[in-house]
Amino acid sequence: MLHLLRFLIFLITVLPLSAWAAEPRLAAAGIASAHPLATQAGHEILAHGGNAFDAAVAVAATLAVVEPYNSGLGGGGFFLLHRARDGFEIMIDARERAPLAATRDMYLDRDGRSVPGRSIDGVLAAGIPGTPAGLVHLAEKYGRLPLKQSLAPAIRLARDGFPVTAQYGKMCLRQHDRLENFPETARVFFHDGFIYGAGEKLRQPELARTLERLAAAGREGFYDGDVAKRLVDGVRVAGGLWSLKDLTDYRVIEREPVRGVYRNVRVTSAALPSSGGVVLVQILNLLQGLDLDSMDKPRRDQTVIEAMRLAYRDRARYLGDPDFVNVDVARLIDPAYAAKLREEMPALKPASAAPAKTGEGGNTTHLSVIDRDGNRVAVTLSLNTPFGSGFMPPGTGVVLNNEMDDFAVKPDAPNNYGLTGSNANAIAPGKRPLSSMTPTFLENDDTVVVLGTPGGSRIISMVLLATLEFAHGRGGPKDWASLPRFHHQYSPDVVEYEPPAFDDAEKRALQQRGYRLEAVRGGYGNMQAVVWNKKTGGVEATSDPRGEGFAQVK
Ligand code: GLY
Repeated sequence: MLHLLRFLIFLITVLPLSAWAAEPRLAAAGIASAHPLATQAGHEILAHGGNAFDAAVAVAATLAVVEPYNSGLGGGGFFLLHRARDGFEIMIDARERAPLAATRDMYLDRDGRSVPGRSIDGVLAAGIPGTPAGLVHLAEKYGRLPLKQSLAPAIRLARDGFPVTAQYGKMCLRQHDRLENFPETARVFFHDGFIYGAGEKLRQPELARTLERLAAAGREGFYDGDVAKRLVDGVRVAGGLWSLKDLTDYRVIEREPVRGVYRNVRVTSAALPSSGGVVLVQILNLLQGLDLDSMDKPRRDQTVIEAMRLAYRDRARYLGDPDFVNVDVARLIDPAYAAKLREEMPALKPASAAPAKTGEGGNTTHLSVIDRDGNRVAVTLSLNTPFGSGFMPPGTGVVLNNEMDDFAVKPDAPNNYGLTGSNANAIAPGKRPLSSMTPTFLENDDTVVVLGTPGGSRIISMVLLATLEFAHGRGGPKDWASLPRFHHQYSPDVVEYEPPAFDDAEKRALQQRGYRLEAVRGGYGNMQAVVWNKKTGGVEATSDPRGEGFAQVK
């Protein structure tokens, strides 16, 4: 009896309390990203003792090297974090900022018309990058390893080269004529003007040096000193507006994520200046209480389309950088507001205005990570359109974004994605353009999901459709990632869809109800998801079959 008592006292004093109450430890870590080398880099860092945040730094930096058309040090994005030890959650806003010399009408001609291409091509289109600061912040504040170690795989791949993929060749082919206008970019990404074949090695020594400066000096390595000077000199020689102050002033901002509940699923997602979380939660609130499961598929899809329409309408009307405009987010994501808005749903009829096409959004990139301790990260990063502005300041290896196009260059003028905006998203010095990036966590009593995707304005509807599948208990991560998609964004008034999403009967039913349908051939999106079953400790990771990504659990 005494022995038993001693043993019990031993257990109570020696074992941490959490060991009694904790969910089972994860059986493995999971990483999903858009490129095998990036996923491998993340696992390499975990194997060296890094946590999910260190791994995310390695994956993101590697993606900047191996997918230079989708993201990079010249871009920005959003990092959504969950720390297992205390449940702390935060979003790191590493979105680009408008240069301090930017003006509201900088993309308009003297008659107030937007000048085609000016917010897309060349230096004037580039905002001040946030990704380098985001990587440094993530590593220094939340990581376990020195930044230098987490950046090592990316530096190695940039310096020694890596075999390019078929997708690299495809993107270069599509962008060839455009990039020929930017000699430094063409020099780095083409082989004497020719496109690399799959398997040929691409070396980026200038980018390796820039990454090394970042690794050695932290944010000063990019935003001050030699790299900053090269960036600013390059931009100014090409007619851009950047100053050194733009770079030295740049800071990431930690923001409270947007939260909502749909059925029994807790949703945590991106905060402004990404519209992702607000629009996602608003759509879910609109659908809450409607008995989707009892509807036939055409009726259910129509209901989802109308909820998308209403939430994207509010995006256009109200959303912008919260440090510059007052946005009543609490009201927009309040279920009571959705209940009122829902009354408009049956009355909404497709408008007759001739729709413009929404722009291609196959670029941008996403990575999802869960480590064995349950730390989790969802990161969406972008240059905006493929290879961003196309411009690379000489000697830096860094392609600059064209994220300035995500501002409303004037009220109601559509951007590359066909999205319109109000004064809330007008250009101002130092302001961050409204984004659609939607890094997201979903959680119920059994399961944690970390997910996101590229895809411009369609990002939010893709995350929504995956969320609905999860919340309604349909399929697993592979099914959510491969699910045929559809999208409506209020303006233009068109339902875009991947052809398998609607069969002929459903297409006819929707058309009879007045919907204009446009098939997106070849599909869209590149979802990356990691799922942890809290009951069993099992981890599953999946990479969208539309892309060439790689998901690995180990
Ligand atoms: N550049 C696309 C987005 O941020 O939504």
